[in-house]
Amino acid sequence: MRISFCCTNTKAEPWLQGFRQALPGAVVEEWLPGAPPADHAIVWSPPQQFLDEQPGLKGIFNIGAGVDALMKLKLPAGARVVRIDDGGMAVQMAEFVSHAVIRHFRELDAYQADVAQAKWSFRRPHQRKDFPVGIMGLGVLGERVAQAIGHFDFPLLGWSRSPKSIAGMQCFAGAGQFDEFLLRTRILVCLLPLTPDTQGIMDRENLAKLQRGGYVINVARGAHLVDEDLIALLDNGHLAGAALDVFRTEPLPVEHPFWKHPKITVTPHTSARTLREESITQIAGKILAMERGEPVAGVVDPQRGY
Ligand code: NAP
Ligand code: GLV
Repeated sequence: MRISFCCTNTKAEPWLQGFRQALPGAVVEEWLPGAPPADHAIVWSPPQQFLDEQPGLKGIFNIGAGVDALMKLKLPAGARVVRIDDGGMAVQMAEFVSHAVIRHFRELDAYQADVAQAKWSFRRPHQRKDFPVGIMGLGVLGERVAQAIGHFDFPLLGWSRSPKSIAGMQCFAGAGQFDEFLLRTRILVCLLPLTPDTQGIMDRENLAKLQRGGYVINVARGAHLVDEDLIALLDNGHLAGAALDVFRTEPLPVEHPFWKHPKITVTPHTSARTLREESITQIAGKILAMERGEPVAGVVDPQRGY
C-alpha cells in the first residue's frame, strides 16, 4: 500500500515518521510532482495537481476537521474524503469557547484594564439568565462545547441542519427555525462547517437579530462572517463585542481593522489545533479499516459538503 502526504504549511518529516511507525507495511512518502500514484492521501489544502495525478485514491484523509478548502477542488471519482473526527480537538474547543464566554460575562477585560492601573474596582454581577448562549453547529465540536457551557448554567440554545435532542439545550433546526434561534441568543458561537449554505451567515441581517448587547464567538471559518457588518453593529452599539479566531484571510493582514477594534479580541486560528499523534493514530486506524472494507467515522458527504 502506498500513502502520499501532501499538506501545505506543515512540516512533513514528523508526520511521515509517525505514519511509517503506525503502518509498517506501507510506503509513506511526501508527494512531489510526478510521484507514483498512491492508494491513500494525507492532505491539508493540497494543490489541484496533486489530486489530478492521483486518480486511484481510495481515501483522502484531511488532517483537520474542516474540509472546505478540499471540497473546492476536483476530487478523484472513487475517493472518499475523511476528516479528523475530534482527535483531541473537541476538548480544546470546549475550553476555548468556555473561556471566551466567561471572559465576556465576568467582564474580565475591564478588570484587567483596572488592575493595570492598580485600581481595586467592582462591577455589579450580571445575571446568567440574561446571557443565553446559542451554538450554531451541533456536530462533534459544537456538542462538546455545549456540554462544557452547560456546566456554567447559562441558558443554552443550539441550531443544526437536522433536528436534535440534547439534554439541557433548546434545539432548533433548519432555515425555518433560524430566526427564532437568533432572537433568543445573546452570545452566538459559530461552529458550522463552511459550505455554500453557511458562507456569510453572520451578516448584518442575521447578527441584528441577536439580543441587544450580543457577543459573537467565531471559531469556525472566517468566511462565515461579513467583516464590515460585524464592525457596523459593534460601532452602533447593538453588539457588545466579538472573539474571533478565524478570518477570511489568514494570517489576518496587519492593516485589518479587527486588530485594533476595542470590542474585538483576535486569536490566530488556534482554538482547536490538530494534534499530530492523535491524528496519526486515528488516520492510520481508518486506513486499515478501509482496506478491510469496514466503515469509518468522519466520511464527508459530497452533497452536503461536510
Ligand atoms: P461536524 O461534526 O460536521 O458538525 C457540523 C454541524 O454543523 C452539524 O451539527 C451540522 O448539522 C451543522 N450544519 C451544517 N450545515 C448546516 C446548515 N446549513 N444549517 C444548520 N446547521 C448546519 O463538524 P465539527 O467537527 O463539529 O467542526 C465544525 C467546524 O469547525 C469545521 O468544519 C471547521 O471549519 C471548524 N474548526 C475550526 C477549528 C479552529 O481551530 N478554529 C478547529 C477545528 C474545526 P447536522 O448535525 O444536522 O448535520
Ligand atoms: C481547523 O481549523 C480544522 O478545520 O481542523
